[in-house]
Amino acid sequence: MAREEGLRRTVAPGADEGEAFEEVTLRPRRLADFVGQSSLKEHLGIMLEAARRREQAVDHLLFAGPPGLGKTTMAGIVANELGVGLRVTSGPALVRAGDLAALLTNLAEGDVLFIDEIHRLGRAVEEVLYPAMEDFQLDIVLGKGPSARTLRLDLPRFTLVGATTRTGLITGPLRDRFGFVARLDYYSAGDLDAIVRRSAAILGVRVDAVGAAEIARRARGTPRIANRLLKRVRDFAEVRGDGSVDGPVARDGLALFEVDDLGLDKVDRAILDALCRRFGGRPVGLSTLAVSVGEETDTIEDVYEPFLLQLGMMMRTPRGRVATPAAWLHLGLDPPLSEQEQPPSLFP
Ligand SMILES: Nc1ncnc2c1ncn2[C@@H]1O[C@H](COP(=O)(O)OP(=O)(O)O)[C@@H](O)[C@H]1O
Ligand SMILES: [Mg+2]
Repeated sequence: MAREEGLRRTVAPGADEGEAFEEVTLRPRRLADFVGQSSLKEHLGIMLEAARRREQAVDHLLFAGPPGLGKTTMAGIVANELGVGLRVTSGPALVRAGDLAALLTNLAEGDVLFIDEIHRLGRAVEEVLYPAMEDFQLDIVLGKGPSARTLRLDLPRFTLVGATTRTGLITGPLRDRFGFVARLDYYSAGDLDAIVRRSAAILGVRVDAVGAAEIARRARGTPRIANRLLKRVRDFAEVRGDGSVDGPVARDGLALFEVDDLGLDKVDRAILDALCRRFGGRPVGLSTLAVSVGEETDTIEDVYEPFLLQLGMMMRTPRGRVATPAAWLHLGLDPPLSEQEQPPSLFP
């Protein structure tokens, strides 16, 4: 995790070795190499082309969606396709308004400023961002008290690219200042299959069609996980076999790393287990659920819940989270009878 954090801030590959370096090499650099998300790619392609023709900075862009779906990758692609510089930062890293001001004043004409986790920007920093996004101006307050003066600086025309795992937490005024808001969806098995093959080719891993499909199917709809599983299966294949990945090798490797048939990992299963077994199918509040599986509520909401909802294993109700019959069946349990199915009472 720490490695990944570092990478977000250092964009240039080469400095780092090993797996962190691999992560950078796996990242598509051009729109054409970005697999899936076809309507997003089409819209973005048109915006980029139009901006290129007008020789203007492209409008501010907001990418939303669960972790690992390609938001950071997209920000890099935008800068790369336009041939402009990329500055990378994140909401939590911009503590004071001055932190953002320093970044903004160092931008060159047309640059892309990428703010990851933009929903975590502080109020004061966000206030600085509004005029910067809208009028490319920066208001700096000099001095304090009655003698304070405001200095207005012109900024170069830049493109802000924001990424968030939670559109719900973005304030209205900030959201309104983006010219384009895109939601990244979980990837289909076919797209993930293409991603696994692409990554295998880059990493020099021999993987056959069945092996690639097996990894793709269990990647929780997420490219980052597809790449991670590929690397783990590669390790397994090198240590236990001759290094090539076929169906049985992929299956055995994934079983060893406790990724189940649907791609659910230990935490996913712990969540379902809590909902079905520990709380006996009653609705469970988010914080109770988080405590019972030993995760942060944010992590549950950002990482685990969206996929379990998408799979139809879990529901959000006004009274809390509940497991669906599919979850009970997945754990090998009998789902409780629903109200209508209860045997008629003898004493009405
Ligand atoms: N559409 C895609 N095609 C190929 N690889 C992708 C795609 N989206 C993401 N990846 C891979 O998944 C990894 C995680 O993507 P990233 O952009 O960091 O996700 P996010 O910023 O949304 O958490 C990247 O290293 C990249 O290699
Ligand atoms: Mg990211």
